[in-house]
Amino acid sequence: MTDELLPRAAELARRFRAGLADRPVFPTDADTGAVRTALGDLPDEPTDPAETLERLHAAAEPVLVASAGPRYFGFVTGGSLEAAAAADILATGWDQNGFSALTSPAAALVEQVAGAWLKDLLGLPETASFGFVTGGQGGNTVCLAAARHAVLDRAGWDVERRGLRGAPAVRVLAGSGRHATIDRALRLLGLGTDAVAEVPTTPAGSIDVAALRTALSTTDGPLVVCLQAGEVNTGAFDDFRPAIAAAHARGAWAHVDGAFGLWAAAAPALRHLTDGVSEADSWATDGHKWLNVPYDSGYAFCAHPDAHRAATSYTAAYLVDDEPEPLRNPGDFVPESSRRARGFATWAALHSLGRAGVARLVERNHALARRFAERLSAAGAEVVNEVVLNQVLVGFGTDTARVLAAAQRSGVCWMGGTTWRGRRLMRISVSNWQTTEADVDASADAVLAAWRDVQDR
Ligand SMILES: Cc1ncc(COP(=O)(O)O)c(C=O)c1O
Repeated sequence: MTDELLPRAAELARRFRAGLADRPVFPTDADTGAVRTALGDLPDEPTDPAETLERLHAAAEPVLVASAGPRYFGFVTGGSLEAAAAADILATGWDQNGFSALTSPAAALVEQVAGAWLKDLLGLPETASFGFVTGGQGGNTVCLAAARHAVLDRAGWDVERRGLRGAPAVRVLAGSGRHATIDRALRLLGLGTDAVAEVPTTPAGSIDVAALRTALSTTDGPLVVCLQAGEVNTGAFDDFRPAIAAAHARGAWAHVDGAFGLWAAAAPALRHLTDGVSEADSWATDGHKWLNVPYDSGYAFCAHPDAHRAATSYTAAYLVDDEPEPLRNPGDFVPESSRRARGFATWAALHSLGRAGVARLVERNHALARRFAERLSAAGAEVVNEVVLNQVLVGFGTDTARVLAAAQRSGVCWMGGTTWRGRRLMRISVSNWQTTEADVDASADAVLAAWRDVQDR
């Protein structure tokens, strides 16, 4: 092994990160054919590792997206914190298998501490179990696997042993604005998307609690209710206290998809939005969104550790830990077996920010989202949502699609598009620790310049 290789890789990463604010946010004019050519053919013989690294860097660097930078507003994307990125480099170098206490006590212990800190910050029950997964999709899937176990167990059916053939039908009530990963989780779990009965949402995008109550009273059998902290377009929150109480009164499992919105619970100024959320049975959230942990990072929390473990754990003779008091096995709470030691980066993010730093990150991004909305609406654009969190939906009359395309090509900033209530809109998410007022102002100026150009044509 050469002494220079890992420092060189870290140095290339450092340089990229240092230049994030100065490069075009999206590589719009990149020559993808040149990238393929530069990557070359599969060599017949080994290559010197240093040459391999340089070739990868030279080939891929021109098509990197500055999504970790301060003016990227697409898809609710957090740019990794310095401490979290550095810890993730260590995770790579340490190359620990985060499956169990036997494969890595370091991974098991760090994840255990970080999981307890997360519950504390998010106001979740101290006794809840948790799994470090790949993201919101992983979180929703694990939580709904635990839900499937619990509601069928209550109906006298052991789904882990017997499967779903002949099982009582599980029904799912979910708002019409749920994230598509809920549906994919239901597909993966064999419940199927036909299991969903959609509950209407309010104009802001929250579940209509009266309609939920009606649906609860007219749906038979094992039942799961999916709620949401942070509607994917508007950022709206479901009214958790009455919704969860109604679900529980009917004997249903209440799951909360809080991929980004659950972080409001860590911010005193926004915590009211999550009132009652801790009463739920399971919660999914992301680390790689608002906590600004590097990809990939998410968490599944469950108020019923036995259901969680029943859904996801397994054992084998060669995996048994003979210690009288074995450590918590991270692999018991996730769908993977051998896995990256994800706890290091999360621990580092939380340790470097502290409780106050997490609160400030969330509150600052919220204030910046409001600033973005004010700048655009002052210039005549239509902000169609109330900016309760970090999401801003903007319309430019009949010009929206063209303004969006031009803004994306500007290089100054990048944001995505969406369709909300039948209208094509610009969707802005502010979720990065580095974003400043000046970044928002420069981005709003770029969007407005794009609008003027479109109007002039
Ligand atoms: C509300 C919500 N749920 C789930 C997800 C899926 O998260 P991930 O992409 O991390 O799997 C997202 C993010 O895209 C989201 O916004």
